[in-house]
Amino acid sequence: MMQLESTINGRCTQLEVNDNELLLDVLRDHLGLTGTKRSCEVEVCGACTVIVDGLPVSSCMLLASEIDGAEVVTIEGLRDTTFYERAQEVFTRHATVQCGFCTPGLLLTLWSLTDGRLGPLRDLREELSGNLCRCTGYQSILAAAEELTS
Ligand code: FES
Ligand code: FES
Repeated sequence: MMQLESTINGRCTQLEVNDNELLLDVLRDHLGLTGTKRSCEVEVCGACTVIVDGLPVSSCMLLASEIDGAEVVTIEGLRDTTFYERAQEVFTRHATVQCGFCTPGLLLTLWSLTDGRLGPLRDLREELSGNLCRCTGYQSILAAAEELTS
């Protein structure tokens, strides 16, 4: 077991985790942050995406011990932001959400882009290539992403 401290959704959080415990399991099972989804578990689908120190990462591939001292944002951390409010409106208008399983990861990736990471030569298809949608709603996802990041 190891003790760690990190900022999760703006709150200083102390945790005791096993050395081999995944961040995905800690977020869902220890902290009840179930907006982070488990799907492929092999860093392909992006359903488990969270933001660590400003960058999207697959929490199914990151050991919880690696977030010691880091800043982590999950979908629950966006709820009170103007980005989330706008995203709800834009995603609804473009009918972007079908089953919704990919949506938290998509929103977190887009939020990280609007937070200054998206350069003038942006390529949204490339940026979102790590977030798969099994309902195959890519046209509406891209349309919503364009609007949210412009
Ligand atoms: S569950 Fe982590 S990338 Fe698919
Ligand atoms: S809306 Fe179902 S996986 Fe994307």
